[in-house]
Amino acid sequence: MKIKLLIAASAALSISFSAIAKAEPQAEVLHWWTSGGEAKSVAVLQNEFSSRGGSWTDMPVAGGGGDAAMTALRARVLSGNAPTAVQLKGPAIQEWYEEGVLADISSVAEAEGWKNVLPASIANHMKCEDTWCAAPVNVHRIDWIWANAAVLAENGISMPTSWDEFNASATKLQKAGITPLAHGGQAWQDATVFEAVALGIGGPEFFRKAFLELDKDTLQSDTMVAVFDQMRIMRGFVDSNFSGRDWNLATAMVMNGEAAFQIMGDWAKGEFLAAGKRPGIDFLCTSTPGDGFLYNVDSFAMFEVDGTDKQAGQLLLAELIVGKNFQKVFNMNKGSIPARVDVALDDFDLCAHISAQDMATSNSNGSLLPSYAHGMALRGAQSGAITDVVTAHFNSDMSSNDAVEMLLKAVANSM
Ligand code: GAL
Repeated sequence: MKIKLLIAASAALSISFSAIAKAEPQAEVLHWWTSGGEAKSVAVLQNEFSSRGGSWTDMPVAGGGGDAAMTALRARVLSGNAPTAVQLKGPAIQEWYEEGVLADISSVAEAEGWKNVLPASIANHMKCEDTWCAAPVNVHRIDWIWANAAVLAENGISMPTSWDEFNASATKLQKAGITPLAHGGQAWQDATVFEAVALGIGGPEFFRKAFLELDKDTLQSDTMVAVFDQMRIMRGFVDSNFSGRDWNLATAMVMNGEAAFQIMGDWAKGEFLAAGKRPGIDFLCTSTPGDGFLYNVDSFAMFEVDGTDKQAGQLLLAELIVGKNFQKVFNMNKGSIPARVDVALDDFDLCAHISAQDMATSNSNGSLLPSYAHGMALRGAQSGAITDVVTAHFNSDMSSNDAVEMLLKAVANSM
């Protein structure tokens, strides 16, 4: 089946190549970037596309973490009407490739020399067998704590360097009538906090064994029990209205001083920046306590579509996405750092510099790890099984031991 598709695709490619070059590029782009900072960022791509003669049809599907967007994607592909370009990342790229529905963008990747400007760890996520099947936009870091600088100063608190310190500061803030942790009770946000806690308490090797290798002993270890214990403590630091809250509203609570901290990927920084807040002055950033770096690389995959205008749109989008200018401007807005290694970071803020430095250190000592919560480490069935347990534990009075038992079973059933 796949071979037939490949033959058909390469025949189609050679017949239509000159037609594509002459066509007016069109793209319908499915993404979930709808918050203030995200919308400002995606507009950079839209503008570059338009200024190169492309016409862009926006298909935003609100919902942080992209669960709703992925449901919309499935419906479109099943009805035989895939969008031209889709925000898609991690192993989900390969899952869609196996369905035989992704377009091959190797011609752009080769012409633009992607292999020379992308780190191997990122390039690997963009490859399907020996073809390029996605274009990377950025590197987001997950294991961050954001804080309201004034709230911390007024309460004599500094950014935590251990989980015990975090707990002590949070307790102090709570007594002062401030919500210690801004959080939105959505499964993906629970998972985001959970993986930062797991990395911090267990360390990089524990994280690798648990969430990349799904190692049974690690999943049911005392360390995993300790991770759930810390999650139970965190549950006590969120306000009573946390259920269902969007992540950017939680960020707004930190901005306006209603809450002190948020544990969230650095798209939260995009939100602070879009609201005119200054890093190091109005808000603070530090990595969550512990070693390691959890990365989340956003990317776009192109789906097989008919029409030379759409195919031209796909090639143009792929070229622009990895382009040097786009990688700079987009990421300065988005809160992430460029996926390309040759973009100067001089104009980036101090949090981006921390991110780039820590990423380099982690890359050299083996603690650079893909985020499980943001679909970089596992296939959907496995990451979904873990997140179900994390969220069930967070939203009930389940004991840590019961959570660990449930985790083991859920992972086994998902294989
Ligand atoms: C992540 C995505 C980020 C950001 C976030 C919140 O999964 O990688 O770019 O948009 O969701 O929506």
